[in-house]
Amino acid sequence: MYFIGIDLGTSACKLLLMDERGEIARVVSKAYGVEYPRPGWSQQDPADWWRAVREGVPELLTGLDASQVAGIGCGGQMHGLVALDEKDEVIRPAILWNDGRTVEQVRYLNETVGTDRLLELTGNIAYAGFTAPKVLWMREEEPELFARIAHVMLPKDYLNHLLTGAYATDVSDASGTLLFDVARRAWSEDMLALCDLTAAQMPQVHESYEAIGTLLPEVAAELGLPAGVVVAAGAGDNAAAAVGTGAVGAGTMNISLGTSGTVFIPTTDFAAGVGDRIHSFCHADGAWHLMGCILSAASCNAWWVNDVLGADDMAAEQAEIDVDSAERSLPYFLPYLMGERTPLNDVSARGAFVGMSMSTTRSDLTRAVLEGVAFAVRDSVEIARSLGVSLASSTVCGGGARSAVWLQMLADVLGIELVLPATEQGPGFGGAMLAAVAAGAFDSVAACAGSIVSERKRVTPNPDLASAYDRRYRVWHGLYPALRESFAEVAGGE
Ligand code: XUL
Repeated sequence: MYFIGIDLGTSACKLLLMDERGEIARVVSKAYGVEYPRPGWSQQDPADWWRAVREGVPELLTGLDASQVAGIGCGGQMHGLVALDEKDEVIRPAILWNDGRTVEQVRYLNETVGTDRLLELTGNIAYAGFTAPKVLWMREEEPELFARIAHVMLPKDYLNHLLTGAYATDVSDASGTLLFDVARRAWSEDMLALCDLTAAQMPQVHESYEAIGTLLPEVAAELGLPAGVVVAAGAGDNAAAAVGTGAVGAGTMNISLGTSGTVFIPTTDFAAGVGDRIHSFCHADGAWHLMGCILSAASCNAWWVNDVLGADDMAAEQAEIDVDSAERSLPYFLPYLMGERTPLNDVSARGAFVGMSMSTTRSDLTRAVLEGVAFAVRDSVEIARSLGVSLASSTVCGGGARSAVWLQMLADVLGIELVLPATEQGPGFGGAMLAAVAAGAFDSVAACAGSIVSERKRVTPNPDLASAYDRRYRVWHGLYPALRESFAEVAGGE
């Protein structure tokens, strides 16, 4: 039996074919672009996502027995606003998770509605990337388009809608809308009313591992799949990645180094009253989780190596880095190329190199970029620690996990042992696992993870570097407050 996992990412849609033992038969990746129509804005055409699936699935199946495919599950980029009209036409490009246009709406939500009220209704506060502020932005800035909205959904829900005809979402992705009562795992009527939305416009909420339907016959025929293939509700990419790396149940943890960087900590119960420091969301396994999200992680490295240095060999750029050294004279990097979510909640934050001298080298700056991202990840880890969560080890996934240098530095900066799973395909693998549960191949997400997730390698923190990194982290931590006003000035002029 095969299951298709779809990782609906920001730079590409990756599809994988997994059997019920967790062996990956093939991975296909279809890249697409992001539109940045103004500084800090970020949007995508949902038609590109669907094209990736229509082209990707037949490619995935070439030479393999498609009749064995029993389920499809997607882990999708979170928070994006996909708005459809009555004819199911996409009304405007999807506004993505790292879009910063909603400053005024976030201010209204956090200051006028108030963070206490938002925490009470949703378990979380407003961030620019969340969906509710985008709905308010559309209402204010594009009233004619807003009036046409018949269905609001998240990116992977749009794919699931085209696959099955259902208007459905799952609890993990719904958690990131700020329209959802995370404690009750249901839409918040009060938040919907506040955003001029009705329950009829919202997708039906499922647990991530539940089936929302089967493939439409014409879609099955076009994709080369048998009729009756089950489509799982799926999950936000971080919850799917957690499933795919085995971060299921208390005591586990996953860090993702993709376009964004996330720290994902499963919890048995809903964590109340912490959503103003770290996201408090539903997990895809039926429980809950805490999550910190930095907006630019592996994307900082790609920006630095590809765009600035004009190079394409990441490993060659990292070859000169001495991972056994964290000298105080090395330069620092702030990774806020798209503003920042956790913990700054500041769309105007920007990237910066600080502390260069005449002896600074190209490789010192490459090192600073990797370290700056690791420090930003540590910010979320420190918040979790301050809440009393003990963090001893974590799985890691995403493109950044391919760099041995970066992994060692991350382990040293965090003081946490890192575990590389057999596959770094977090969201796609997790999506396929959710499909396997939805199709009845496993009784639960935990049983599926216990049966098929395995580890490849462990990276242990070097205790000799702990105090040097603590010192560097303290210095780094002082840089954003010192530059905040300047960043606001810079961003105001863009
Ligand atoms: C999480 C978040 C990002 C996106 C990336 O809150 O915004 O990790 O899900 O796809």
